[in-house]
Amino acid sequence: MTASSTFSSRISPPEDIDAAARALLDGALVVLPTETVYGLAARADDPDAVQRIYDVKGRPAGHPLIVHVADGMAALAGSWGADPLPLARSLAEEFWPGPMTLVVPRGPRTPDIVTGGQSTVAIRVPSHPVAAAVLLRMDELDPAGAPHGVAAPSANRFGRVSPTTYADAHAELAHRLQSRDVLLDGGPSEVGVESTIVDCTGDLPRILRPGSVTAGEIAAVCNCTVDDVRDGVTDIRVSGSLPSHYAPDAQVVVSPDLQAAIALLMAHVEAGARVDRIGLIAPASEPTPEGVRRLAAPKNSDDYARDLYAALRRADDDALALVLAIPPGADEGPVDAVIDRLHRAAAPRS
Ligand code: TXA
Ligand code: MG
Repeated sequence: MTASSTFSSRISPPEDIDAAARALLDGALVVLPTETVYGLAARADDPDAVQRIYDVKGRPAGHPLIVHVADGMAALAGSWGADPLPLARSLAEEFWPGPMTLVVPRGPRTPDIVTGGQSTVAIRVPSHPVAAAVLLRMDELDPAGAPHGVAAPSANRFGRVSPTTYADAHAELAHRLQSRDVLLDGGPSEVGVESTIVDCTGDLPRILRPGSVTAGEIAAVCNCTVDDVRDGVTDIRVSGSLPSHYAPDAQVVVSPDLQAAIALLMAHVEAGARVDRIGLIAPASEPTPEGVRRLAAPKNSDDYARDLYAALRRADDDALALVLAIPPGADEGPVDAVIDRLHRAAAPRS
């Protein structure tokens, strides 16, 4: 489906997947559904195409991008990446394809515009069938160039909430694309928050961005402790670590439980906020105070991650002034990732 065609939601058929692979090989952009969030893809070895990603997103230069590939091991071994260290190899074997990005020493094929000039590159193998099919098709169409890679940040304008549905990606970017660009529909993203980013260049894995693959799962695979340096990262740029990232227009307030949320709500009402312009994102066990718009009622942290970004977008669609968010309770799922995104959505704008 091209940028100029009228919007209708459906899973893109094989001919659209073929068209998207050809468009990427020709240097055009593709809105690509993945299991985490929708991405905006360009072939990673075409600096002009990658530059358009920055232009369309309004993303500042120098923020590095993730290279998405079909064949992760080939990509790690001396093309996009340099020879993989044992740590990267074991995480790749366990978690690819899937919502896990590995930061490894950069290989000869990765241009500066993708890495922001750093000596490392971030690589991921998406599991979403549409993303996987596009990447495979690129390798089939141009086997001499395999393994092809596409740089793909989330398909949102810089600093905004990542889209997790075709409709949200379309609303965010379609008007900024050209007729040769392609938008693919893969249905709602199952995971709903961006991939876990693990720096594999040191002795121990370091989580740079929490996602649905948890620190516990990583520790179990590498049989080691896992550094979580999100707050202390100074040498590596992670744009998701900027305080104002993932923010909707509505003010987001994170509060530990409904009682505290109601106290906050009352304070806002007393300060003049209208109760019908207040939304609530809270575990299903929490009731909805009268007059408040319930945006999501997740049963566990997996549901929470899946529904969070779409709920924040609904808040803006409905012009809500305030969103109260009660974090998920402890469970085995992506609690850290959800709390991280909630706090970023609630952080003051820079
Ligand atoms: O789930 C995801 O990862 C999605 C989907 C589309 O795959 N992509 C995504 O891309 O979230 P983006 O550009 O929105 O976030 C990529 C993050 C940025 O915070 C960037 O700083 C970090 O990855 N990154 C990229 N290369 C890096 C590197 N060499 N070292 C450290 N961080 C890096
Ligand atoms: Mg992003």
